[in-house]
Amino acid sequence: MTVGLGTGTTASWAVRRIGELIRDGTLRGIRGIPTSEHTALLARQAGILLVTLAEARPDLTLDGADEISPDLSAIKGRGGALLREKIVVSSGESFVLVADASKPVRVLGEQGPLPVEVEPFGWEATLDALAALGCDPELRMKPGQKEPFVTDGGHYTADCRFPRIPDPASLEVEIKRIPGALECGLFVGLAKAAVVARSASEIEIMQA
Ligand code: A5P
Repeated sequence: MTVGLGTGTTASWAVRRIGELIRDGTLRGIRGIPTSEHTALLARQAGILLVTLAEARPDLTLDGADEISPDLSAIKGRGGALLREKIVVSSGESFVLVADASKPVRVLGEQGPLPVEVEPFGWEATLDALAALGCDPELRMKPGQKEPFVTDGGHYTADCRFPRIPDPASLEVEIKRIPGALECGLFVGLAKAAVVARSASEIEIMQA
């Protein structure tokens, strides 16, 4: 089985657990496709054989989310890897979210901004175009520094604060009409299920 390996603190637990299950012989024949350089490093340390999209497509991708709505639409990308995550998820068969109880929301946008990966050239114009959609975009900076945060693909990220996102599918289409907006963190109609840890012993499976 080929598994898309997500990025973020929650996905990293899944990556480490897959590594443990490979090492103890429970899982065999697993290959991983990482969604970031950070996850690639973690997966190698965990002993997971890695391949690229040139060689395989994921049968299943496991990844975290920043917010998950009742229909399993999600906001992703606050961890900075949304473009690669969306490429891996969209190329594969099925997508399952992993999350803790802080991630399910009634309406997307309730808790924080929508990340949009943007081309560095002309980013100021791209942020103006995003603002015209009704949000308050901010260029993400490296923590504690005055330089923009740069993704693994060499792009910038605009964190777009919308009051609420009741119709994520339409907003995704509008964002993708902006030439400098390479991809947005709305994952609509992609996840088949979400595994939500309500506590150490209580797991809820949300299904679309
Ligand atoms: C990375 O780009 C993101 O999509 C993360 O998967 C998402 O932000 C969830 O991250 P945490 O599990 O760290 O909250």
